[in-house]
Amino acid sequence: MKFFDFFTLGSSFLTLAPSPVLASPVTARDQLEYEYIVVGSGAGGGPLACRLAMAGHKTLLIEAGNDQNRNLNITVPAYQAIVSNDPKIRWDMFVNHYQDQTRAMRDPKYVYEVAPYQYHVGPDPPSGAKPLGILYPRAGTLGGCVTHNALILITPHASDWDGIASITGDNSWAATNMNQYLDKVYEWLPVEPTDPTILLSDLKLVQQLASGAAVMGVGPDPLAAVIGLANTLLNDPNSRLNPTRDSTQGFFQIPLIMKNGARTAVRDHIDATVQAGYPLTVRENCHVTNITFDTSGSTPKATGVNYLDGSYLYRASPLSGGQGTPGSATASKEVIISGGAYNTPQLLKLSGIGPSAELNNLNIPVVVDLPGVGTNMQDRYEIPVNVKHGSDFVVLNGCTFDEKPHDECLTRWENNPYVLAARGAYATNGLAGTMVVRSNYASTTDVDMFIFGGPVDFTGYYPGWADAAVADHKHWSWYTLKAHTRNRAGTVQLRSTDPLDTPIINFNYFDTGTTAGRADTLDLDAMIQAVNMSREALRRYSNYAILGGDAFIEEEPGLAVQSDEDIGQYIKDRAWGHHASCSAPIGVDNDPNAVLDSQFRVRGVQNLRVVDASVFPRIPGVFIQAPIMMVSEKAADVILNG
Ligand SMILES: Cc1cc2nc3c(=O)[nH]c(=O)nc-3n(C[C@H](O)[C@H](O)[C@H](O)COP(=O)(O)OP(=O)(O)OC[C@H]3O[C@@H](n4cnc5c(N)ncnc54)[C@H](O)[C@@H]3O)c2cc1C
Ligand SMILES: *[C@@H]1O[C@H](CO)[C@@H](O)[C@H](O)[C@H]1NC(C)=O
Ligand SMILES: *[C@@H]1O[C@H](CO)[C@@H](O)[C@H](O)[C@H]1NC(C)=O
Ligand SMILES: *[C@@H]1O[C@H](CO)[C@@H](O)[C@H](O)[C@H]1NC(C)=O
Repeated sequence: MKFFDFFTLGSSFLTLAPSPVLASPVTARDQLEYEYIVVGSGAGGGPLACRLAMAGHKTLLIEAGNDQNRNLNITVPAYQAIVSNDPKIRWDMFVNHYQDQTRAMRDPKYVYEVAPYQYHVGPDPPSGAKPLGILYPRAGTLGGCVTHNALILITPHASDWDGIASITGDNSWAATNMNQYLDKVYEWLPVEPTDPTILLSDLKLVQQLASGAAVMGVGPDPLAAVIGLANTLLNDPNSRLNPTRDSTQGFFQIPLIMKNGARTAVRDHIDATVQAGYPLTVRENCHVTNITFDTSGSTPKATGVNYLDGSYLYRASPLSGGQGTPGSATASKEVIISGGAYNTPQLLKLSGIGPSAELNNLNIPVVVDLPGVGTNMQDRYEIPVNVKHGSDFVVLNGCTFDEKPHDECLTRWENNPYVLAARGAYATNGLAGTMVVRSNYASTTDVDMFIFGGPVDFTGYYPGWADAAVADHKHWSWYTLKAHTRNRAGTVQLRSTDPLDTPIINFNYFDTGTTAGRADTLDLDAMIQAVNMSREALRRYSNYAILGGDAFIEEEPGLAVQSDEDIGQYIKDRAWGHHASCSAPIGVDNDPNAVLDSQFRVRGVQNLRVVDASVFPRIPGVFIQAPIMMVSEKAADVILNG
């Protein structure tokens, strides 16, 4: 079955208009009274602020980072690893997968600080090095993590929305109703897959991808592998024409947030909204420190925010150092917090909204005792099977991933702005095709694993991972991303009352988290199955020997790791995540851990909402930016239309 609903081969001769530089907000700096204040410009806050302004409301969008427009790290899709290492953009969070540090240190990606922003990775740290945990990249920049992420847009499953409707009894969350918000997202978000012709020029790449397709029963005939794979890559995993899409297994293309091979997303939507003259003020280099309340009535009412002006204030930034200049702004209608899964709970707690015991310990006056703030946090697990070939993938010939004049792939990308296929290897994030799998351990009929492949050497996050990922052109990896994970045991707690400190983040992976109903072993077994399937794809590579690809050796997990027990230990030690969410969840009135009602309103106060990755009761879909953007559009509708 083929679905052609957005992909049209070779039709990309559209103009790629360079974005104008974001209008300077400086003229508006004196007028600090707004109708709405939105804190955080990522997937949750950005689209919402645009809609509020487009409806004519005077809106202030506050962003701790700044606009990195025209930074090629952002716009070149193949720089998706490099961009997450850009000090002007990145926020390095260090998290605990396990609170038991001895266990956490089994991960070779475990990080120690040897001097401010200087790290040691792995065992045998120098004496005096301070254990930090596992690097979790975030972005402090206009557009949030959407500005530096891997560009993959996968829409959620109907069950994700129907689940919220059934928990809350609010039928506006039903999947049939949520569909309209995806239409709204597509009004401003361009999405296109990697042009297959870029991939098909590299027969070794074809051979690896065809082998993955073969595992899913749709492998092309070896004698016609190129055209066969090209056809397979027409399959859109987001198809809205396939009524059984959520449960459809197979081999699919990967849709990316780009236009003519250049990342175009939330940052550009914000810019376009400002340029169009809507009453949107963007205040960048501004770190919100707490929410202000009018406590004269029976219910505290949010009235605005306090902040610190200054660039790179937050200590997650490697450029941080200053203290900033205090200021404040008021919102006559509402304050909306969209700082992301870590910063939203931090900001709520700093403002007196959270578990009273934690706030009392830090002498923060309690505005509302909401025990659920910073609990229920969830993520996916990701793990690779990683191999090294004897020779390069030719599709990467000339790619140095460093923006220098000798970066021939960049020259090609820059010289062919209008023809996607001609832009070459830099017009893709490098991850071109995916197995879509319903594991033997899934709880519903929905698929619950993506196993995507690409010529990359990536084994998770640690300082320096981005350079290592592209250091040679010989590696291939199959990455398993486990969806509908069952662990709900993550927490975000204050390290101190200093708003520029990062919070303490515990994920409590696998058996140290949710175990009821064998939750941890079901997730782990699904991932072991995926490692098996990745290896099965690698075995089938020899069936396509006619394509001429050379041999490889497995580096991770490595051939010594074979039994389910050993594969399971490998996964427990080394898995990582990048879809942190659910840390200020929507819930029903009588749920003591519900932070929000079904209209995003923070319980126990007026005029305050949360709109970002934090709001979900359960982690949605397979990738998270699409559901967050849909939530952002829904929130705008709820706020504007009641
Ligand atoms: C390396 C990486 C790759 C990823 N790849 C993908 C992918 O391919 N597909 C996908 O679907 N998802 C991906 N994700 C996840 C996705 O990008 C994020 O989950 C999503 O952007 C989160 O949206 P958000 O609005 O909740 O928060 P964010 O996008 O993080 O936005 C929050 C914003 O708030 C700002 N902020 C925070 N606190 C304050 C404060 N106190 N004052 C002022 N501003 C503040 C931050 O600077 C930030 O800009 C990836 C994530 C990472 C880290
Ligand atoms: C891109 O990021 C790298 C770090 O990965 C950095 O060294 C470089 O300066 C950045 N490029 C630009 C244009 O800012
Ligand atoms: C917010 O911070 C200011 C000082 O920066 C403090 O005076 C105020 O009490 C705080 N408000 C709340 C609600 O925590
Ligand atoms: C993984 O493969 C091995 C060897 O074929 C098999 O014994 C095992 O049951 C598989 N594990 C899972 C979880 O599918």
